[in-house]
This record gives sequence, structure tokens and C-alpha cells, in this order.
Amino acid sequence: MDYEIKRLLQKAKQAKENSYAPYSNFNVGAAVIGKNGKIYSGSNVENSSYGLTICAERAAIFKMVNDGEREISAILIIGDTEKFLPPCGACRQVISEFSTNNTMVYMCNKHEKFKKMTVEELIPLKFSIDFL
Ligand code: THU
Repeated sequence: MDYEIKRLLQKAKQAKENSYAPYSNFNVGAAVIGKNGKIYSGSNVENSSYGLTICAERAAIFKMVNDGEREISAILIIGDTEKFLPPCGACRQVISEFSTNNTMVYMCNKHEKFKKMTVEELIPLKFSIDFL
């Protein structure tokens, strides 16, 4: 496993430990590495008003954006699942906002194995600034 992915995996696992998911008991961790080389991590944070929940991916990406970085080099997502955990549709859209053609998405399972895809593969017909 390459060094960058190992670092992302470590940070995403740490973030998952802080997941607040008392309603679903589904803990997720995510970590993004920006073009600036910094890693930002996040976990899902649920709410008694369920719809206010934020996914791990968006929590991590918003940290990155608030730090002034606008470009994701790679994002890794991990859950306690047998299957490789894919980002939800809303997160795909948010990932695409800050991605390039080279941005990679690593979807891990609980055994720390992963499947990797480009953002283009995950959200081929994305809504973007091109339509505005
Ligand atoms: N969740 C994420 O954090 N990321 C995903 O890509 C899928 C879903 C969270 C939201 C909610 O807290 C829990 O997982 C169950 O849907």
C-alpha cells in the first residue's frame, strides 16, 4: 500500500473513533488529502432530528475548504462493513465540487481492503458550475 494511502487510512480510522452515530450505530471515518499535502479527517455526526446528520466525507471536506484548500487529491472512506463503503449521492456531489480528473476515491471495508475509483466513475453526470 502506498505511503499516502496508509496515512489517509490511519487518519480516517482515527476519525471513525469520534463518529457520533447513536441512532444508526453506523460509524464512518473519512480523510482527504488536499493539493497542499495536508490531511483533513472527519466522521459522521448524527442528530435527533435525523436529517441534520452530516456524513464523514463532507465533515472532512468542509474542514479542508475552511483551511483554504480547494482541491482534493484523494479521499478515503472507511466503515465497519464487509463491503467497500461508497460515498452517498450527496457526498459524491460535494466531492466532485473540489475534484479534478485525477482525484481518487478509496472505498475501504472493515478489513482495510479497498476499491479505488475516479470521481468521474462515481458521478458521471455531475451538476457543476458549467450549468450555471
Ligand atoms: N454515512 C456517512 O457518513 N457516509 C456515507 O457515505 C454513507 C452514510 C453516515 C450517515 C449516517 O450517520 C450513517 O452513515 C447511516 O446512514
